[in-house]
Amino acid sequence: MQCPKQTRRSLLLTTLGTGAFLTAGKFAAAQEDQPGSDVRPQKGDLLVRAEPEHAGKIITPGDLQLGEPPLSAWPKDPKTSVIRNGSRLNEILVIRLDPGEMDEQTRSRSPDGIVAYSAICTHAGCSVTGWLKSETGDKDVLKCFCHNSEFNPREGAQVVFGPAPRRLPALPLAIVDGSLTVAAGFVGKVGAQQPG
Ligand code: FES
Repeated sequence: MQCPKQTRRSLLLTTLGTGAFLTAGKFAAAQEDQPGSDVRPQKGDLLVRAEPEHAGKIITPGDLQLGEPPLSAWPKDPKTSVIRNGSRLNEILVIRLDPGEMDEQTRSRSPDGIVAYSAICTHAGCSVTGWLKSETGDKDVLKCFCHNSEFNPREGAQVVFGPAPRRLPALPLAIVDGSLTVAAGFVGKVGAQQPG
């Protein structure tokens, strides 16, 4: 279900998200027997794009521009080259934001304003695909169109609207030798689970 207020940018992200889901199926079929493809993101993993037209391309800091919607991504083990797309719980959204608008904790895990979060809604597990102005403010937020939950990526993806019980888990990042890498595993449980 899509919100009537959906914008062109959110439509674009929705398209990308749908593409990511389709890509997930294709990659999963191709890599389902590869060890590590369903392991959660690990420290040192790279991030690769999930959209069909860019699938597998490594994401660099230069690919992320302030004001643009998030990119859909998967983690990739740099040692084995296995893309960890064997589980949709590894879906990631990565976006560049203004560090000056972030709370301290979010800024601490977001090199150059680049943040990453799980793309799986904590309400009922839909993919979070929207990037549009919040129902409760004038900033763009991450939105799940299944039941209209909204998450503020500047404040640890806390819930700002809708029924989601928990924030989206953050994925701390680092820039190492110019490459965007995972600095630590997800902060919090991924997927639709009860709080606590
Ligand atoms: S599954 Fe996302 S708001 Fe319900």
